[in-house]
Amino acid sequence: MLVLGIETSCDETSVAILEDGRRILVNLVYSQADLHARYGGVVPEAASRDHLRKLPALALEALAQAGVSWGDLGLVGVTYGPGLIGPLLVGVSYAAGVALARGIPLVGVNHLAAHLFALRLRDPPVEPPFLGLIVSGGHTLLVAVSQWGEYRVVGGTRDDAAGEALDKFGRLLGLPYPAGPHIDALAQEGDPQRIPFPRPMLESGLDMSFAGLKTAAVYWLREHPGAPLPDLCASFLEAVVEVLVEKALRAAKRFQLRRIVVAGGVAANRRLREAFPARAAERGVEVFFPPPELCTDNAATVAACAHHRYTVLGRSDPLSLAPDANLPLHGWR
Ligand code: KG4
Ligand code: ZN
Repeated sequence: MLVLGIETSCDETSVAILEDGRRILVNLVYSQADLHARYGGVVPEAASRDHLRKLPALALEALAQAGVSWGDLGLVGVTYGPGLIGPLLVGVSYAAGVALARGIPLVGVNHLAAHLFALRLRDPPVEPPFLGLIVSGGHTLLVAVSQWGEYRVVGGTRDDAAGEALDKFGRLLGLPYPAGPHIDALAQEGDPQRIPFPRPMLESGLDMSFAGLKTAAVYWLREHPGAPLPDLCASFLEAVVEVLVEKALRAAKRFQLRRIVVAGGVAANRRLREAFPARAAERGVEVFFPPPELCTDNAATVAACAHHRYTVLGRSDPLSLAPDANLPLHGWR
């Protein structure tokens, strides 16, 4: 079965075609980052309009690259939340149009579940049970996954997401939006121990807080003008990584899970990918990451989630499927 996947929840327009739930024929991602860079963050109205402009052509390009036609598609999967309501509406409307025109099922996908499905597209795939750490620009949460479709959110940030903290810190430093990848690169040359940024809430529970870290950075920068960028980036990133690693390991222990999977844009970070497995091994836990290109928003993961939802759970949605900007992951099937 060929699944068409569509992702427009934030500032990436993406279309993928997946064969049998695992084989990626094509996964096109068009990033709007340049459009939003001058504002230092995503402008929802501009994002909606750009999705509308790019999505139809991207879908035709995906079919051409995969060498398939509309008639070959068996299912259309689309992100319907959480995310920005205007951008979501563009993707959902387009997907419903395809489903109607081709007479194929429409399957709505939770963006956060889709991030986890990147682990299934990995070679070899990683299947539940596992503890999922989803770290992106909009979300940071810990989720106990007993099987695909059974999501129990057990912790997460109380304020900013980890990626959001990196992006805001980068903005303070004058780095382009999104700053995460730039901080990643600069940190490679810096000293992670140079600046003692705080590790908020490190010793308590499974919740996190990154807003305080950003405030601490504002004060530190004020008192130390001219500190070298690589050391700043390495030290700030180290604080974020240490909190993420510690909380995920604590959650894995509490729910007796021996495997942790990391997903979402920040999972592409080199320091996190390097530090986490070593620290986890000391506690007898294995850690898995998707390939970097499947960490950030993309439609292949959406198609994989839709395929599972339809073929295993027997779920599909009416053409009137409405986007939900605040769709929770906890309990979503
Ligand atoms: O999952 P994603 O593509 O979109 C959301 O659902 O938010 O994640 C985007 C976030 C941004 O905050 C971006 O700065 C961050 O992921 N990011 C990174 C890296 N690549 C993307 N952060 C650190 N290191 C990276 N290599
Ligand atoms: Zn995302």
